[in-house]
Amino acid sequence: MTQILDIHDLKAIARRRVPKLFFDYADSGAWTEGTYRANEEDFQRIKLRQRVLVDMTDRSLETSMIGQKVSMPVALAPTGMTGMQHADGEMLAAQAAEAYGVPFTLSTMSICSIEDVASVTSRPFWFQLYVMRERGFVLDLIDRAKAANCSALVLTLDLQILGQRHKDLRNGLSAPPRLTPKHLWMMATRPRWCMKMLGTRRRTFRNIVGHAKGVTELSSLHSWTAEQFDPQLSWKDVEWIKERWGGPLILKGILDPEDAKMAAKTGADAIIVSNHGGRQLDGAPSSISMLPRIVDAVAHQIEVHLDGGIRSGQDVLKAIALGAKGTYIGRPFLYGLGAMGKEGVTLALDIIRKEMDVTMALCGKRRITDVGPEIIAE
Ligand code: FNR
Repeated sequence: MTQILDIHDLKAIARRRVPKLFFDYADSGAWTEGTYRANEEDFQRIKLRQRVLVDMTDRSLETSMIGQKVSMPVALAPTGMTGMQHADGEMLAAQAAEAYGVPFTLSTMSICSIEDVASVTSRPFWFQLYVMRERGFVLDLIDRAKAANCSALVLTLDLQILGQRHKDLRNGLSAPPRLTPKHLWMMATRPRWCMKMLGTRRRTFRNIVGHAKGVTELSSLHSWTAEQFDPQLSWKDVEWIKERWGGPLILKGILDPEDAKMAAKTGADAIIVSNHGGRQLDGAPSSISMLPRIVDAVAHQIEVHLDGGIRSGQDVLKAIALGAKGTYIGRPFLYGLGAMGKEGVTLALDIIRKEMDVTMALCGKRRITDVGPEIIAE
């Protein structure tokens, strides 16, 4: 049995357990994957200040994101098709996050529905919205998120047009997956994954199937999805969504200080500095490299969060030190899920929490709320 010490160990196990088609879907970035790599590598360039002989007892990672208490400033990012990493993936990840006291964000493009996740959790989760051309469907999703008592809407702004991922094209992956003999072979080599999946066939893209116009089953979902992302999305639409939702709103996919200023003007509660995990504009800078400029531009007006490339608790701490109020992990929890289901998500969170706690102490801090740029070495 492989010893699991860090997120990379979970990734190695997930690679062995999840069919290549779906593992690659998680582990891919757009085009050359340069931005995907930069997200991780740029964290390594940031060095921490070691401090000694500071009282390190009674440490706390507790803080808040958009006014909601979190046991540590790490939320689970919205990820499409999470239920393909592991049967009932969204439901299991939501339960793990709930038990841990951190937010779970359900993607519009999830396998399990808003209602499925609500049925297995007792505390509110967050819902991520893609604004589709079919605005009636968007309104219906907002109403469903309200009915499920979701406590924040995460509106994704950086996917008006879909970035191209070579791994997915080479594997012939589409959303929803259209199974070919090659795919069936990829699945057959992961019998354990298949056994778990067998019982869950009824749960597929349930946020959309049966709700969007003309999408009564999976086959019609394919053409609907292809034409639904809206290249004309504008700041006016953001205002419209804000009004219709009426609750806490987080704008995801801001990577430029000018856009951050526009976002702050909408009166949203937070922005997420993000390049969609390097899955959209390849060649864009890493999220962490843009954080300081965005914090300078808007942090006095709006809460700034960050995602992209976080693979350890040290990375979280660096983002917090540079001005983020909270962070999100995408692939780290997907690797945990693919490796070991719910237990694996909990383990991913445990690894990150432990690394953050020890690092914080060795930087001479006892509370995450006291961490600032002074822990970064020049
Ligand atoms: C994503 N991401 C994403 N974002 C979003 O707003 N809606 C979505 O449906 C998805 N789907 C999705 C699928 C997969 C497999 C990945 C890896 C990512 C982006 C996600 O929310 C987040 O921005 C990144 O995952 C953060 O980078 P890391 O933590 O994966 O490096």
